[in-house]
Amino acid sequence: MRSQYCGHLRIIHIKKIVNLCGWVHKIRNLGQFIFVDLRDWTGLVQVIFQSHDNSLFDQAKNLKNEFCIRIRGCVQERDIINKNTKIKTGEIEVLAHNLKIFNVSLPIPISNVNNTNDIHLKYRYLDLRRLDILKNIQKRSEVTHLIRKIMEKNNFLDIETPILTKSTPEGARDYLVPSRNYPGQFYALPQSPQLFKQLLMISGIDKYYQIAKCFRDEDLRSDRQPEFTQIDIEISFINSIQIRCFVEKLIKSIWSKIIHVKLNKFPILSFHEAMARYGCDKPDLRNPIEIIDISDIFIDKHHIEFFQINPNHNNRIALLCVSEKKFFSRKNIDIYAQYIKKYNAKKLFYIKINNIKKGCQGIQTSIKKILDEKTWKKIASKTYAKNGDILFIIADTIEIVNKSLGMLRIKLGNDLNLVKEYEWKPVWIINFPLFFKNAKGNLTSMHHPFTAIKKIKKKDSSNEIEKNVSDSYDLVINGYEIGGGSVRIYDYKKQEKIFDLIGISKNIQLKKFGFFIEALKYGAPPHAGIALGLDRIVMLLTGSKNIRDVIAFPKTTSASCPLTNSPSTIKHDILKELGIKIIK
Ligand code: AMO
Repeated sequence: MRSQYCGHLRIIHIKKIVNLCGWVHKIRNLGQFIFVDLRDWTGLVQVIFQSHDNSLFDQAKNLKNEFCIRIRGCVQERDIINKNTKIKTGEIEVLAHNLKIFNVSLPIPISNVNNTNDIHLKYRYLDLRRLDILKNIQKRSEVTHLIRKIMEKNNFLDIETPILTKSTPEGARDYLVPSRNYPGQFYALPQSPQLFKQLLMISGIDKYYQIAKCFRDEDLRSDRQPEFTQIDIEISFINSIQIRCFVEKLIKSIWSKIIHVKLNKFPILSFHEAMARYGCDKPDLRNPIEIIDISDIFIDKHHIEFFQINPNHNNRIALLCVSEKKFFSRKNIDIYAQYIKKYNAKKLFYIKINNIKKGCQGIQTSIKKILDEKTWKKIASKTYAKNGDILFIIADTIEIVNKSLGMLRIKLGNDLNLVKEYEWKPVWIINFPLFFKNAKGNLTSMHHPFTAIKKIKKKDSSNEIEKNVSDSYDLVINGYEIGGGSVRIYDYKKQEKIFDLIGISKNIQLKKFGFFIEALKYGAPPHAGIALGLDRIVMLLTGSKNIRDVIAFPKTTSASCPLTNSPSTIKHDILKELGIKIIK
């Protein structure tokens, strides 16, 4: 039907007769001429209908936005004053000789701006006609194509794993599918292919990968969807350094081939270092502000009393040092003091430096009561503070200080425009604790229970179970967790021990993971793996702010699909067949 795509026409096509198919993007009727911007998935081209061609002109008069048409015409150079440098086809236009209307269109019910509200998602198929969203989807396809090429070149086998399966403990709720054959029983949609990829290693599949759909019923955020895609990788006879090295190369190739950016070697931070310096385990290293610890400066009883911290807790006193004299009015300081309360911090203290040379005389502060010359000197030398700087101090439990200063760091970075949008700052976070205590005080795996313990140097070894460090790694880019993985336990006794420690009874172990424990008994090899979040990678590569912008048919923030109206109720007799009764 078509000879060329609209967006591909250039000056070299002048005098060529072309057949173009697409949608009417915009129409301008100037009386003597009708200009139509014709659009297909490659872009726009200007088409002209001239009034002297009566019947064709009358036909063109009926055109409306989003009619689906084909035109036949001749490519010609635009007059110099009509050239449009903003679009790639801006030097030429197509003089129409023939028009076929394939289909008319109702007026489009959504606006032409980027929005993922319910109405845009209801008409997502029309939203996808917008070239900016379409570009994201095209980029996503380029990325998956490149990944497959690289993985195949490195001898990985692409293997699909089941969707109807048993739950794996990745930390979220499962999406469940009732079984008709076994009324009262359910499959779980995979939160990840974790157990299957480990089983594949036991099968002797040396290198596995899959671009895998995963399903997690959890609270959604701008970088989280209930169904998302992982680049899932597992390799036998490999350690964590080797797998990180492979993934680093993969990410560098993607950045280089897709957006022509050369990434430098990825730095490595331990979990504890990340928490201490940035207050979180996925720091955006484009933000130059760091948390500085001053716990060792305020150790006296009257300091503790002043800061009203409970000496029986694990506490921390720390600060952020920022410079922007004009910005920090009383009003702005109050705004930040209010902001940190969201993260349960009691109070935000400050020291404003007017003249560093004058010691305590040269500052304004809310901790005057406990600040003598000696103490101030220690703070000044630790922070390298200079005239015009302000120090924001929080004293509380370690968790509250890390969370609130970590969030304040992000806010200040944004408010003061300190984060350079065009920069790329990847970082590996390693040495996560093996366990953490959840809200109910129960020991829980930080990654998942299949993660191996890292060999700990003798002097660091501790009997406190929570201090055990896992052989795991997360990849973070510009503050987004792009991937996570670990070396796995391949000794069934160690695996059982971990299940015991996180409180999974022997009975449940047998029921839920019996098949896996058994598999480990048949000569399981050492192995390690990682899963990279494809949606988040494409979100970064396209500069999108929301993961939904890079998914063809995403869900709303409450996990519904306004397009298909799902989830939806099911007829009574189908429920009966499944042995399900709805409790109101
Ligand atoms: P993890 O749970 O860290 O590890 O997930 C790996 C990566 O998947 C992405 N991701 C998500 N992306 C969008 N929406 C979500 N709801 C979502 N949840 C996770 C993130 C994350 O880093 N089985 C392990 C991997 C392994 O150990 O090999 C796992 O799934 O980018």
